[in-house]
Amino acid sequence: MSSQPLSDALVLFGATGDLAYKKIFPALQALVRRGVLNVPIVCVARAHRTVDEIHARVRDSLEHAGGVDRVAFDKLARLLRYVSIDYSDPQSFLELRRSLDSARRPLHYLAIPPSAFATAVTGLQHARCTENARVALEKPFGRDLASARALDQTLHEVFPESAIFRIDHYLGKEPVQNLLYFRFANSFLEPLWNREFVHSVQITMAERFGVEGRGSFYEETGAIRDVLQNHLLQITAILAMDGPVGQDVEAIRDEKARVLKAIAPLDAAHVVRGQYRGYRDEPGVSPSSTVETFAAVELRIDTWRWADVPFFIRTGKRMAATVTEVVVQLKKPPRDIFGEHIPCADYFRFRLGPEVTIAVGMRVIRPGAAVGEIMVGQDTELVASEDPAKETLPYERLLGDAMRGDQGLFARQDAIEAQWRIVDPVLGDAAPLYQFDPGTWGPSEAERLAPNCWRTPVIAGGSS
Ligand code: BG6
Repeated sequence: MSSQPLSDALVLFGATGDLAYKKIFPALQALVRRGVLNVPIVCVARAHRTVDEIHARVRDSLEHAGGVDRVAFDKLARLLRYVSIDYSDPQSFLELRRSLDSARRPLHYLAIPPSAFATAVTGLQHARCTENARVALEKPFGRDLASARALDQTLHEVFPESAIFRIDHYLGKEPVQNLLYFRFANSFLEPLWNREFVHSVQITMAERFGVEGRGSFYEETGAIRDVLQNHLLQITAILAMDGPVGQDVEAIRDEKARVLKAIAPLDAAHVVRGQYRGYRDEPGVSPSSTVETFAAVELRIDTWRWADVPFFIRTGKRMAATVTEVVVQLKKPPRDIFGEHIPCADYFRFRLGPEVTIAVGMRVIRPGAAVGEIMVGQDTELVASEDPAKETLPYERLLGDAMRGDQGLFARQDAIEAQWRIVDPVLGDAAPLYQFDPGTWGPSEAERLAPNCWRTPVIAGGSS
């Protein structure tokens, strides 16, 4: 927690876009309800809109997200302003300066396509909106290592590092923070959390839905850039990092960056790309597209703790279920005393969504099954689960933190560069692409990376 001055206005670029509608307006209502957001909110977009139209869109978004809190909504509506901007005309940013009124320390939140970041930053500077200001921007930060560095340079021409907030919304998720908490708030874990006991680590992020009208965005992105380079490598870093040294705000980010730097760049032999059948018929998608909607990779972490332990990651759209789960598989006992030939029974399981679970898998004897000298076992889980309904919205947490100047939950440039360095060699068509049927766990070729190893997430009540 830092003691930086509070931002005295929030400027929301991309206010008519999808992200604002789905995630940001609900987060703003939640912040207003908690009484921590009471500054002008200037909505910015290309389109011409009246303030009434923006109120209607915000209300619609809240209804869609599950609830308008009448008192909070009225307060939020009073804070909202609207400015239409022509990005190609620096003069139009002057209108933004006027609507900021007496605000001197705004937070500019760029919920816009990365290709527009540089123009927005230059326009803000031209209109003298950047002095003492903060800027928050959405992943992906660049398209590869080189463009990530170029973007960083553009930002630093205008903003100091302490004013830059790079949003990877997974870092704002409570179950992701719980991974870090669970690892370092308990002493029993650390002796096991290494190559002596861990056989492999798996991360699955599966989505049952497809690209949902975002075809043209996805054509530029693909699964590796969209979620693997950022969300899933950040989760990997939290799972694999060493304990933070000291108490300062950078201690955790230092360790995450350190372990990311120890991950070897991927090569095509350790990547399987997939595309669901029907993707090429989606609006905005080329009929001959070779963009991956599924990726499975095997990472190796070159540290004393993790040498020779494979980290498998798979992610995809139109898969069998919507579920994000981490499994840390432990090695089998040195001898098979009971003759059961169980490959690997014990594990830690972290269900990060949609419901939240932490569980430990183990073997116990099957009741009544010890006949004579033969003992028959069964798998069981010790479960500690939490109610996702109580979870703070990631954007509520992240926007609140950015307004307060607290960078702890934001991605740092050195980590982002390390993440691009890992995926850079396999961007584009470097690895072959396999078609797969929607509603499955991806192409069978993914099995090749981790033979008999992928643990299929158990979905309560079937697929969700
Ligand atoms: C976004 C990706 O960053 O994360 C989307 O662009 C993906 O493609 C989304 O669906 C998943 O986020 P969440 O919070 O719904 O798991």
